[in-house]
Amino acid sequence: MAEEAILGYLATSEEIPDSGQFASQHGFQHNDVVNVIKSLHGFRYIDAQDIKRESWVLTDEGKKYAADGSPEVQLFLAVPQEGSISKDELQKKLEPSVFKIGCSQAGKNKWVDMGKQVSRKVQHVEDKVKDLLIRIQKGEALGKDDINSLKARKLIAAQTWKGYSVKKGPNYAPTRKKVATDLTRENLQRGDWKELEFKEYNFNAKGPPAEAGHLHPLLKASIGHYIYQLHLAYGKYVTVKYIFWNFDALFQPQQHPARDSHDTFFLEVPSTTRELPEDYVKLVKRVHESGGYGSRGYMYDWKREEANKNLLRTHTTAVSTRMLYALAKQPFTPKRYFSIDRVFRNESVDRTHLAEFHQIEGLVCDKGLTLGDLIGVLNDFFSRLGMSKLRFKPAYNPYTEPSMEIFSYHEGLKKWVEIGNSGMFRPEMLLPMGFPEDVRVIAWGLSLERPTMILYGVDNIRDLFGHKVDLSLMKRNPICRLGID
Ligand code: PHE
Repeated sequence: MAEEAILGYLATSEEIPDSGQFASQHGFQHNDVVNVIKSLHGFRYIDAQDIKRESWVLTDEGKKYAADGSPEVQLFLAVPQEGSISKDELQKKLEPSVFKIGCSQAGKNKWVDMGKQVSRKVQHVEDKVKDLLIRIQKGEALGKDDINSLKARKLIAAQTWKGYSVKKGPNYAPTRKKVATDLTRENLQRGDWKELEFKEYNFNAKGPPAEAGHLHPLLKASIGHYIYQLHLAYGKYVTVKYIFWNFDALFQPQQHPARDSHDTFFLEVPSTTRELPEDYVKLVKRVHESGGYGSRGYMYDWKREEANKNLLRTHTTAVSTRMLYALAKQPFTPKRYFSIDRVFRNESVDRTHLAEFHQIEGLVCDKGLTLGDLIGVLNDFFSRLGMSKLRFKPAYNPYTEPSMEIFSYHEGLKKWVEIGNSGMFRPEMLLPMGFPEDVRVIAWGLSLERPTMILYGVDNIRDLFGHKVDLSLMKRNPICRLGID
């Protein structure tokens, strides 16, 4: 075995200078020797240094001549010892390429007289080409002139030969000891772990693919598209979780049914917030009670206790409000924002409703924006998500005027599907924040679950989100494409 031969050789000799020579001297395939060297090297029985050599190998044509003889000799042998043979006759006896090359080479060597009739000029020839080719096959080194003549006839080609020189390594032993790869219960029970030699860790070895966590389809939808696409077009991704911002700052009256505990989850602990920007709260109170900025307000008694209540965000517009408030504090610069976040509604759960879901929200804030801009931006925003056929329907939101529901034509379902809600934020919301009067904010929001359900062909929202989700679905689902290539 090559392993024994290598270790045995190193017991008495300093070095194996060339694995190629070692292999041929000991009658091994070089490949086998190389594999053993790699393995012994891994266990540090030996040290191995790469060696590279330019070597020559036979081309297909070279191999043919090494087996059958060179064309010139084949041609010579086809010519009778005495007398002559017609060229046509000779041609019939040989392969066309052998005949052609043979004629020119045998002529050059002055072995034959070439005319209409061909006859021998000498009685014995040696097949030097065949001999040289066989020597190359054996890996012998040839002189420069011989190499050049074979190269010129394209019978050999250069090849880099790779092998090793080998010396004893730090763990050298004349025979390989069996090392343990695992510490077993039996080793511990028998106590033989004390004597066992363990295989060292090979930190370069590739382990089996890790069975790690998988992205949830909703994340795939949001990561795959929304975040990437929107990041390019709409800048920063923001998450904020505040409560007053959910309703009051949005000019949503305190008696609005959405604030009812049937629709909203209120927090028990802590049930109220301690920190609100007092100056701003005063302005919000005034706009609710008596309006201003050309509005009559809602004309009711705005109660601070109500605004202090903590609740779980019912829409990501709470995020927009919070960001706009922060933006209004700085010298005005146009901005685009989007967010993807979780929202909560106290609804009974069914095939299409969950008490917890996600919304994608976007807004553009600039001077002089119009409803036309909103429609244009929505077309752009949704076409980036692969939804280019949109329709808009007038709607009502306490915080936007005008407001529009957004519908998209779903090619698969062959119908118009509501995908979101949008509008221009009211002056009663923007002006108390401190925006200049000519600043307009166009905004929109949509559910993340709805398009994802359509994309993955899921008809029960509980199959997509929540504790009933099939885990293998997550492993299998590709990153969603929303129709974009
Ligand atoms: N907040 C709205 C909803 O939850 C969506 C919306 C966002 C509407 C921004 C107008 C402007 O449906």
